[in-house]
Amino acid sequence: MDSTCRICGGIVKGSIDLGPQPRGNAFPRPGDVADEFFYRLVVGMCDSCTMVQLLDDIPQEIRYHDAYPYHASGSAVHRGHFEGIAQHFLDTELTGPDPFIVEIGSNDGVMLSKIAQAGVRHLGIEPSREVAEMSKAKGVRVLPEFFDESTAPRILAEHGPADVMFGANVIAHISHLASVLRGVKRLLAPTGIFVFEEPYLGDVVEQTAFDLLYDEHSFVFSVRAIQAAAERFGLELVDAEPDPIHGGSMRYTLAQPGARPVSRGVGDLLAREDSQRLGEHATLEEFAGRARRIRDDLIGLLRDLHGKGMRIAGYGAPAKTTTVTNYCGIGPDLVPFICDSTPSKQGRLIAGSHIPVKPPAAFSDDYPDYALLFAWNHAEEIMAKERSFSERGGRWILYVPDVRIV
Ligand code: TYD
Ligand code: ZN
Repeated sequence: MDSTCRICGGIVKGSIDLGPQPRGNAFPRPGDVADEFFYRLVVGMCDSCTMVQLLDDIPQEIRYHDAYPYHASGSAVHRGHFEGIAQHFLDTELTGPDPFIVEIGSNDGVMLSKIAQAGVRHLGIEPSREVAEMSKAKGVRVLPEFFDESTAPRILAEHGPADVMFGANVIAHISHLASVLRGVKRLLAPTGIFVFEEPYLGDVVEQTAFDLLYDEHSFVFSVRAIQAAAERFGLELVDAEPDPIHGGSMRYTLAQPGARPVSRGVGDLLAREDSQRLGEHATLEEFAGRARRIRDDLIGLLRDLHGKGMRIAGYGAPAKTTTVTNYCGIGPDLVPFICDSTPSKQGRLIAGSHIPVKPPAAFSDDYPDYALLFAWNHAEEIMAKERSFSERGGRWILYVPDVRIV
């Protein structure tokens, strides 16, 4: 199974096949599962520009619907992270006369509300209505649309060029990335920067984080592929910095060509990517083999524990949960429920595997013997919060980078 690269038109060879999958963030109601949408989750790398991408293209209108349930403010650690980024921009890039910042995918306003409080001109671009409304309530100015090369000139005409453009966990989601980069090229001021942070291919491969692959992640970026994409659309990659958030991210900075010096980090990371063979099909094929082993180990462990009469609950229902449960064949027979703090996910089901999502009290009111930690990127925060589960003999099951009990 091959397809065409969304960035350069090259050939993308499918290397990782995670089988039939529903949408990661669908969260159907119990009565609503009769005609669930499935597609084949296959991921591969472009022969020419090395961009890792989904072979199938799920129309974005069915992904970022009005009630899109992901809320960036849901974790205290993430809130602190985004407030820190806002403060960094306020201190560095937004100090000139009447600066202007644009955020693509501003979600519930976790970053821009801090910018709004500082009285700095800003615009959030957010097509999912519910989260857009939440950010408006925090004083954030929002354009309820998708960003692309057709929105950029309108924003430019109304607000002028952007000193900073930002996106977090959204740019790799956009299958029309080529059009977004054309839009950035137009809207970005001559000395402006476009900063975005997304899960990093190097970490995904190193940790065998196969659950980060789902319909919304149209791409998994590497420094090499972003450098090539930037150049293709008249921009330049001037910095890349690793960040541990979301289980391993990279923060990229693009600028107009020649406008900013290129940091040493870019060259260092490119060299590291070459030594990790990140740009080779074989690396993805080996990844697929490790994912199969995790699947076999995890389902084996759960069946074994279930056979011994142990009670197992899931903890955290990020979109990743959909990939893992459907790929491994984990259903409510093995994991009767998953607790999650997001109100809009509670009372719903994980798509495809149909495991019910319940409020955190379902967990703490009656501790199970084992908790399968789907939100493993929040392990520290969650394990600290649920210390009394471990103190009473409860054990956590983790499956990335391998299956283990802690
Ligand atoms: P997250 O990894 O932020 O999102 P994504 O879907 O993009 O992978 O999702 C973390 C999920 O875990 C989210 O649904 C909220 C939940 N969660 C809890 O239930 N309790 C917690 O203490 C934390 C930190 C998260
Ligand atoms: Zn390509």
